[in-house]
Formats: sequence, structure tokens, C-alpha cells
Amino acid sequence: MSPSTTAAAPAPVADWVDVAAMQHDPYETYDRLRETGPLVRVPAMNRYLATTFEGCRAIEADQVTFSASVGGAGATMARALGATPMLRKDDPGHAAERRPVNPCLRPKRIRESWVPLFERNAQTYLDELVAKGPGAADLNLDYAAPLAAQNLVDMLGLRGVGVGAEDMRRWSHAFIAGIGNLQDDAEIWARCDTAQAEVDACLDELLPRLRSAPDTSLTSALAASGLSDEAVRANVKLTISGGMNEPQHMVTNVVWALSRHPQQRGRVLADPALWPSVFDEAVRWLSPIGMYPRQTTMDTVLEGVELPAGAILGVVVGAANRDPAAFDHPEAFDIARPRQPHLGFGSGVHLCAGHWAARISIGEIGIPLLYDRLPDLRTDERRSEEWFGWVFRGLTHLPVTW
Ligand code: HEM
Repeated sequence: MSPSTTAAAPAPVADWVDVAAMQHDPYETYDRLRETGPLVRVPAMNRYLATTFEGCRAIEADQVTFSASVGGAGATMARALGATPMLRKDDPGHAAERRPVNPCLRPKRIRESWVPLFERNAQTYLDELVAKGPGAADLNLDYAAPLAAQNLVDMLGLRGVGVGAEDMRRWSHAFIAGIGNLQDDAEIWARCDTAQAEVDACLDELLPRLRSAPDTSLTSALAASGLSDEAVRANVKLTISGGMNEPQHMVTNVVWALSRHPQQRGRVLADPALWPSVFDEAVRWLSPIGMYPRQTTMDTVLEGVELPAGAILGVVVGAANRDPAAFDHPEAFDIARPRQPHLGFGSGVHLCAGHWAARISIGEIGIPLLYDRLPDLRTDERRSEEWFGWVFRGLTHLPVTW
């Protein structure tokens, strides 16, 4: 029997949740769900949502009861990427696929292998942003998206086979749409299949080359891992789907947050050692991944709530990161808050493999270089910005000026 079986009650039901409204702004819904209970059944989503810090952390601490091998969403991931990657497996299968990439994603190796490329990419797209001019520049389209895409091209070592930022953006979007294609939309599968074929063609050329002449890329680490060809390819595609959008969104999230908090902006511009705190607080406050799924493997009780075997859970880290039981004044963006863990990168065995890569490429390079070149950078109130999403949340347009 699993976690606690003390006095338990069925999950409260939230039939009032408006999923369309959450796409625009999920935070009021998160607060109301959390006040309703740590685990709430949401019929509109056919799942239970966990919205407290403790509840989300407890789920991630017990992969025997709360499996990452989720039906539905898990099945679309295998369809989208050609096979199930590490993200939808439990240990030991997950660990076997994660182990080979861990060494190249540690800070020391990132600094040795990729930092010069991250700096060069930031300078390249900064030039393009500046050329757009302060009346027309869109930080998302002109800087954040191409920078995150090109950084990922370089981490995967795909520059040598002619892959560019625009290919990466197209593939990443096609895979993400496929992973979310629960409605089985044929057009989405067609775009996803094209992306799969293009990535496979690159890997056909690259994998044999890397096996005889390894380099410092993630693809090289996977190629040398002894994993099956199918697993290597699925995990390259997982990284393509997961390694672009969130770093992209963090560029715009930080600039948006600092534009609304000019005093904190002044503090970090005066003391660049604060950049890591700015990045981490922004990941907590505006988590680019709001929710990810798990499934119970047996009847269980979580935070006093009964769950049947086979229940699909949403681990709503976007809500847990604003849980007043875990954070003082959680609704405030505060770069001076005492250091404490948040769940923006997940936790447990699936803790984001690329969290150091994101912290360094964006938090230490992509954003500080922006403000070095454009110290007056701020959102342009004369043009409208646009937020979208709650499962994946970010700014689709962020007009900026300087
Ligand atoms: C700020 C940027 C990022 C955020 C907020 C983020 C967030 C996350 C989260 C929440 C998970 C866990 C999801 C789950 O358990 O279902 C995850 C997993 C993962 N992320 Fe990230 N991520 C970011 C950047 C990156 C980058 C740059 C890469 C690649 C270089 C990457 C690669 C991965 C991989 C491979 C996994 C699966 C790990 C596993 O299953 O063991 N992420 N990420």
C-alpha cells in the first residue's frame, strides 16, 4: 500500500473551471483550486489537479505510485517522437536514457563546450533586434525565439549538418503540437511526421559520424550510450520539443518582470551578480511549464485525498510555485527572497535535464547581454503584448523599446 492511508476523503470536484479562461490567465483559477483542496477533480480536464507545493513534491518523490508513463498524453508523445522517450518512463528504464546526457549538462561542461556559442548567438540576434529599432522590435520574435532555437541547434551539435534556427523552431513546434494532439488532428500529425522525417534524415548522416568522431554535443553523448537507435532518436526529438520554448519564454518573462519592477531592475543593473537570482525568481513567479501529467499505479491517498488506481493527475507546478504555505508573499516578484527550492524545473528523477543549460544560456548570457547593449530596454506600452497558455505559458508578442 502506498503513501498514507490515514483518514481520507474523496477529492472535491471543481466543475467551475473554465479551461479557455486559463489560457489567458490561470493564476486566479490556481488560487481558487488551492483553496478548494490540495487535490481537486476537474471534470472538464478528466483529471485531478495537484496545486500545493507539498502535494506536487510528494508526487514527484514516489514514482512507484505516481508513474510518468501516462496513458493518453504518454501515447501521443510516442506517436509524435517515434518512440517513448525518458520523460514518459519510470526508473530503471528512465535512468538508462537519462544517464548518458547528464555529464554534458553539468555546469562545468556547459561552460567548456557551449558558452562561447551561446555568447556568439546572443550577439548575432542582438544585432538583429537593434536593427529592428525601438519602435518596431518584438523581443519574442526578433531575439528570444531565434536565440533559444540556435542555442539548441548547438547543444545538439546539428549546425554541422546544415540545421538552422528556423528548422529548429519548426520542428519544436511540430513535436509540441503532436504531443498535445489528444484530438487526433490529421493535419497536426502530418506536420509532426514531416518534422520526424527531417530530423531522422539529419541523424542518418550525423550518428555514424559521431560514433567514429565524438564531439561535445548531446547527440554525441546519446550516440555513444549503447542505447537502441530508436531510443537515441526519440530522446533527440524530446530535447528538440522541450529545450526551446521554455528558454525562449524566460527571455521575455524576465524583461516583462523587470519592466514592471524598475527598482529591482536598477538593482541588478548595478550588481550583475544578481542575475542568477533574477532568473530563478522569474522561473518561480512565471513558470513556463504550468502543468505536467502523472498516473496512479494503485489506489492511494495523497494529502488526505483518496485516489483510485489509473487516475490521471496534473502536477500544477505553476500553482505550487505560488503556494502561500511554501512562499512568503508568493504573488510578488521579489529577487531578494531567501533562496529556497521551487518546482519550475520539476523535481525528483525527472527534474529538468537542461536546467543548468537554461540558467547559463539565458540567465547568465542571453538576458545580461541584452541589458549590456540596451540598458534602457523595457516593454513598449504603446503596442500590445500577448500572453498565451497555462500548460505551456509565455508571451507570444512582447513589443520592446529602449
Ligand atoms: C527555463 C527553461 C526550462 C524549463 C522551465 C524546463 C522545465 C522542465 C520541467 C518542468 C521538466 C519535467 C517535466 C515532467 O516531469 O513531465 C523538464 C524535463 C526535461 N527538460 Fe526541461 N526545462 C527548461 C529547459 C530545458 C532545456 C534547455 C533542455 C535541453 C537542453 C531541457 C531538457 C529537458 C529534458 C530532456 C527533460 C526530461 C528529463 C527526464 O525525464 O528525466 N529543458 N523540463
